[in-house]
Amino acid sequence: MSNYHIKNLEEYFQVYRRSVRNPENFWEEIAEEHFLWRKKWNTVLSWDFTKPEVKWFEGAQLNITENCIDRHLVTRGEKTAILFEPNNPNEAAEHITYRDLYKRVNKLANVLKAKGIKKGDRVCIYLPMIPELAVSLLACARIGAIHSVVFAGFSSTALATRINDAECKMVITSDGSYRGSKMIDLKGIVDEALEECPCVENVLVVKRINSEINVVQGRDQWLQPLLDEASDECEAEIMNAEDPLFILYTSGSTGKPKGMLHTTAGYMVYTAYTFKNVFQYRENDVYWCTADIGWITGHSYIVYGPLANGATTVMFEGVPSYPDYSRFWQIVEKHKVNQFYTAPTAIRALAKEGLSHVESSDLSSLKILGTVGEPINEEAWHWYDDNIGKRKSPIVDTWWQTETGGIMITPIPFSTPTKPTYATLPFPGIQPALMDAEGSEIKGNQVEGRLCVKFPWPSMARTIWGNHERYRNTYFSTFENKYFTGDGALRDEVGYYRITGRVDDVIIVSGHNLGTAPIEDAINEHPAVAESAIVGFPHDIKGNALYGYVILKDTGESRNHENLRKEINQIITEQVGPIAKLDRIQFTQGLPKTRSGKIMRRILRKIASNDISNLGDTSTLLNPEVVQGIIDEVLV
Ligand code: WTA
Repeated sequence: MSNYHIKNLEEYFQVYRRSVRNPENFWEEIAEEHFLWRKKWNTVLSWDFTKPEVKWFEGAQLNITENCIDRHLVTRGEKTAILFEPNNPNEAAEHITYRDLYKRVNKLANVLKAKGIKKGDRVCIYLPMIPELAVSLLACARIGAIHSVVFAGFSSTALATRINDAECKMVITSDGSYRGSKMIDLKGIVDEALEECPCVENVLVVKRINSEINVVQGRDQWLQPLLDEASDECEAEIMNAEDPLFILYTSGSTGKPKGMLHTTAGYMVYTAYTFKNVFQYRENDVYWCTADIGWITGHSYIVYGPLANGATTVMFEGVPSYPDYSRFWQIVEKHKVNQFYTAPTAIRALAKEGLSHVESSDLSSLKILGTVGEPINEEAWHWYDDNIGKRKSPIVDTWWQTETGGIMITPIPFSTPTKPTYATLPFPGIQPALMDAEGSEIKGNQVEGRLCVKFPWPSMARTIWGNHERYRNTYFSTFENKYFTGDGALRDEVGYYRITGRVDDVIIVSGHNLGTAPIEDAINEHPAVAESAIVGFPHDIKGNALYGYVILKDTGESRNHENLRKEINQIITEQVGPIAKLDRIQFTQGLPKTRSGKIMRRILRKIASNDISNLGDTSTLLNPEVVQGIIDEVLV
């Protein structure tokens, strides 16, 4: 256990230096000491960022579920693995022990096998935050099937695109979901999606809200009766280190989402090691990450990282505002949560509701607070520190991405002095670089640039499913021999990093990454729309909100703009999902374009943010006159 827990800043620097001097050695030691291998590796790392190709622990064999479940049975069989807190506070919480989890995962794994799912097959999981969601991931991993979780807030069109891209043979869903006071008809959404998905042979349906569902004979089945019949022993499939574990989609600069592919051994080692250190998890702690398992944060830090450490991980089905805004804090008190990990957008929303919601709960169990998903503003950071952590629980502002698989830049609690809005220092093994526009690395401190990583780490995505060229282009072609994150960052006088935000066409709204292209594609489907452009503008709670500039077709008729706005948001809801709805829509005559025909979003962003005093150089535009027109439209 020598190097598993970092205890102070001096030790962090020692570990960090060692991790950079000899990364292979560093990761090999961690892999040796803390995991269960069926066979050890021949080579720790081979890599080439020009192809790009990265392989960790080649030759090794393992099953991640044996590491997340089986090996804990001897000492932690009766310990709670998953603590499920339902949407309705009056429904009892469920304590799923490691032994229960073992049985449930094996049963589902046997059901999947009986339905013909084999190693390498893709299974789409479209479920709310109920235990079956975590169990489904693990059941796939048990038999070597590749899971592709789609966040259950996505629309049927978005779901269909993802199912088809990965050619999933099966969908696991539920009759519906509870979200606060609402019920959502998930099975109905799946039915709609599957009209476009010939690859899907079977749909397994979890009963959650007891609603009537449409059963397509030969395709759909309730899951419970199948589980009742299944054996609770299922031998784990022996996987090679680089065998795929899962696909998870993220937005990109084109309409098509990118299916990031993560593999087995490196992902396991990195998520487990980061979990242990970033949250300083101790044996009897109760850890709660409020993310949805539909996002990478849930994959790595609700399921795999915590379970690989034998932790107790809370899964919350509901929303922070139901039955009222004190719900998060009531859960902290009820389950005596020690580590609490959430998103800045949730912190801002809760801060706005006032302290009475906080003060009614006993938060004294909390030891460590975390944030993830977007830059945290200073005000929200202090509110969190003062009122939730009571200035005694360090805040870990963790920067990372779907593509990185695990936390990359973060304080180590009680070791790294925190600084509001700073993710601070790279995690051991991570070698960040800031790059200038010419492609050179900017050395030294008090500098700002584009954030890259110079050396591979175990949990990086290996490719985009079905499109390796796009993977190379997106991440490895902007800067030679470096992974480009798409984020801007600055490094302060002591070498701390602060992430300043995306420098590409991705906008982060309430912590969700949204590509501009799929939203624009949706808007352009409205028969009255000729062209559109989306930008982000600052929003008190969501961080960013969406602003759409829309050019209407010239039909000679006058249109009711309010109705059009509603129709446009309706199309976006159907095509992408409600999270992508526009806060503002401006109907305009033209869009500023470069001479090569690209929309100049920089200018649109400034106008949307009400920052028109310094629009920069507009003379290179193809049509500089439209800029004043757009400003005039806002002013009237
Ligand atoms: C942003 C979420 C500032 C960033 C794990 C990144 C952050 C994108 C932080 C990835 C942070 C994430 N501070 N920005 N602590 N964490 N981001 O793929 O722009 O959903 O590129 O992964 O979120 O979002 P994703």
